[in-house]
Amino acid sequence: MTATRGLEGIVATTSSISSIIDDTLTYVGYNIDDLANNASFEEVIYLLWHLKLPTAGELEELSNLLAENAALPPEVIEHFKMYNTKEVHPMAALRTAVSMLGLYDDKADVMDPQENYMKAVRLQAKIPTIVTSFARIRNGQEPIAPRKDLNFAANFLYMLNGKTPEPVEIEAFNKALVLHADHELNASTFTARVCVATLSDVYSGVTAAIGALKGPLHGGANEQVMKMLTEIGSVDKAEEYVLDKLEKKEKIMGFGHRVYRQGDPRAKHLKEMSKRLTELTGQGKYYEISEKVDATFTSKKDLPPNVDFYSASVYHSLGIDHDLFTPIFAVSRVSGWLAHILEQYSDNRLIRPRADYIGPGKQEYVPVSERG
Ligand code: SDX
Repeated sequence: MTATRGLEGIVATTSSISSIIDDTLTYVGYNIDDLANNASFEEVIYLLWHLKLPTAGELEELSNLLAENAALPPEVIEHFKMYNTKEVHPMAALRTAVSMLGLYDDKADVMDPQENYMKAVRLQAKIPTIVTSFARIRNGQEPIAPRKDLNFAANFLYMLNGKTPEPVEIEAFNKALVLHADHELNASTFTARVCVATLSDVYSGVTAAIGALKGPLHGGANEQVMKMLTEIGSVDKAEEYVLDKLEKKEKIMGFGHRVYRQGDPRAKHLKEMSKRLTELTGQGKYYEISEKVDATFTSKKDLPPNVDFYSASVYHSLGIDHDLFTPIFAVSRVSGWLAHILEQYSDNRLIRPRADYIGPGKQEYVPVSERG
């Protein structure tokens, strides 16, 4: 048996949810460009879960269900107030809170398709409330309940900031949610599928996926990109910063991709948004620094920016704290995780690969008293 490092190129399952066709991303066959330019995030959730676009009635029904299920058990809010929230990374808080939600769902272990679908609704609805409540509590503010008259994207910004967002902010945030919703068998989605393939519950699958997304080689990269842009500080320092990193053989976050060698089809949308929003909010320098980093890095390495690179300046210009960037990725990606979890249950087989053993051969056991 020979191992393939990082399972590169290994086809591990069949799926009908999303795919990379001709170097572009598709959800159920729909091109990501069309979805990013036209669809609401709620429509995309429906598409991923039902493998078809909703009618107006179906969309309204799902939107209502999400709005009705957004409130958190009071114990989760109390829990946030118990620990030193300033010291805790919001991704760790999210991971714990999602696991906690399982404790307050008396159907958590009921393995019935309709019950599992309702758990998906509850998780998709509650994760934005977890992220925004945590963000407010750590600033000494009270959590804000979602409004029934706002869509999913607008509600997130409203619950975070306590004011009705501008149309341009809603449009940008909705697009970011659509772009991040699913991406075939990425590390966190694979983690979710491995977990539930043991017939463990939906909450366990999503908790495991959040843990995988948190890492800087995956979703955690968007926060690291903003850290880098802040460290660089001005456009005239960008080139030297990148060249220095390359000389030290350090990675530049937000570049490269396991699957796309020609470029991530989502990046152009985020780049466009970054330009527009940073200009609009007087944060233009972050777009300029990003562009300079991009030009310098790609002139040296054939590794184009991925989804995480320009999303950092987009979220920054929306006034979002930098350590909330990865939780926002989760607010969107949970739709994909849940679609994959439901798909896994529908045709399940335990996921259990083999290892190419490279340790010592057979050894004689020596009792502890006789070991030197
Ligand atoms: C996401 O899989 C998905 O779909 C993920 C995602 C999704 O929607 O779910 O698209 C979201 O996770 C995007 C990726 C976010 N991560 C980063 O931006 C971190 C920086 N990027 C890299 O670490 C890296 O490119 C990965 C993790 C994205 C991909 O890793 P691979 O496929 O294992 O590639 P590799 O590490 O083996 O790199 C190949 C070569 C190496 O050089 P050599 O040893 O061959 O000389 O490219 C170099 C790497 O050193 N390289 C980089 C680099 N990325 C790769 N060099 C400098 N900076 C980088 N960012």
